[in-house]
Amino acid sequence: MRLDANAGIQGSKVRAALDGYRQMLTLVLGLPEQIEQARAIADRVDYGSVRRFDNVVVAGMGGSAIGGSVLRGLLGSELTLPIIVCRDYVVPAIVTRRSLFFAVSYSGNTEETLSAFEQARRIRCRVIAVTSGGRLAELAQRAGVPVVLLSAGLPPRAALGYLFVPLLVGLEQLRICRSYRQDLVEAVGLIRKNRRLWLNRARVLARVLDSRLPVVYSTSRLLDAVAERWQCQLNENAKVMCHVNALPEQNHNELVGIGAPRFLAQRTVLIALLDAATHTRTRLRLKHLLEMTRTGYYRAVQLESQGRSELARIFSLLMLGDMVSVELARRRHVNPMPVARIDELKRRMDWAGRKR
Ligand code: PA5
Repeated sequence: MRLDANAGIQGSKVRAALDGYRQMLTLVLGLPEQIEQARAIADRVDYGSVRRFDNVVVAGMGGSAIGGSVLRGLLGSELTLPIIVCRDYVVPAIVTRRSLFFAVSYSGNTEETLSAFEQARRIRCRVIAVTSGGRLAELAQRAGVPVVLLSAGLPPRAALGYLFVPLLVGLEQLRICRSYRQDLVEAVGLIRKNRRLWLNRARVLARVLDSRLPVVYSTSRLLDAVAERWQCQLNENAKVMCHVNALPEQNHNELVGIGAPRFLAQRTVLIALLDAATHTRTRLRLKHLLEMTRTGYYRAVQLESQGRSELARIFSLLMLGDMVSVELARRRHVNPMPVARIDELKRRMDWAGRKR
């Protein structure tokens, strides 16, 4: 009897995992359409009057913060003012009245982001909220600050188009950066054209990664956020650990540690993310690194970005990582949709907050 009951539970878990796989894959494949919708939503928002800003700050956590990292990578070679991504309760001292401050929380209820939002309001800098509702929408509307209101109901990490594009459009509207309209069009077209092909590649990669530790290296500052995204997606969708580092910095420390502890040596897969912006010397460094540490990992995979514009190139590798995470979830029979531990931790924190 007990065995049958267990088999029933197992069977329903497997079915839920498969349903979740289909849902998350549909969301991942729908990124181009989401980017287009996000552009239309953001174009209707009034981000306020044009003025000089000293810096741009994006406050958010997890799936809501990654858009800020992508923005920083994308504009790193163009903007002369710094973009800071704040993933904490406390905003850095660089936030002054002359900052442009985005508070980004898909749910609108993330306590770190709400705390940062309130501080930014007290500092009286230009604040813009990006959210699908919750407390952040309430507070922002009450304070009369611009709100980019997104449609609700998605896992935040599946809302990257909604969470990233409004930041870029805001910077365009405030004349902080040039127009990226054409680059977005190119990125959308590139993903549409290649998504099936990339999905096949992702299935092969997921097989290589199954039961191994992914170690993802970015080789250009343009791709740092992409490596970060690979990590978050592998963590949250596939429910596995993932380690991330960047070249050339890796050559000055982690290089020495490759292969230890020994039990990890043949259980690690190196994934190097490469781009046209990767310095030729960094490519040479990667070649030497792989030759020198061959016995330290199971396999090394080199992935080149595709596309003309930097934006399209970022999204080509980001999209592949999203697909790998979903395909790995399928192989592991885990449901990529829920993030039970994150929810549980938020519940515990909430309870602690009420008790105080
Ligand atoms: O992907 C997730 O669910 C998390 O990383 C969330 O994005 C994170 O916990 C912050 O929540 P929110 O995006 O609602 O502010």
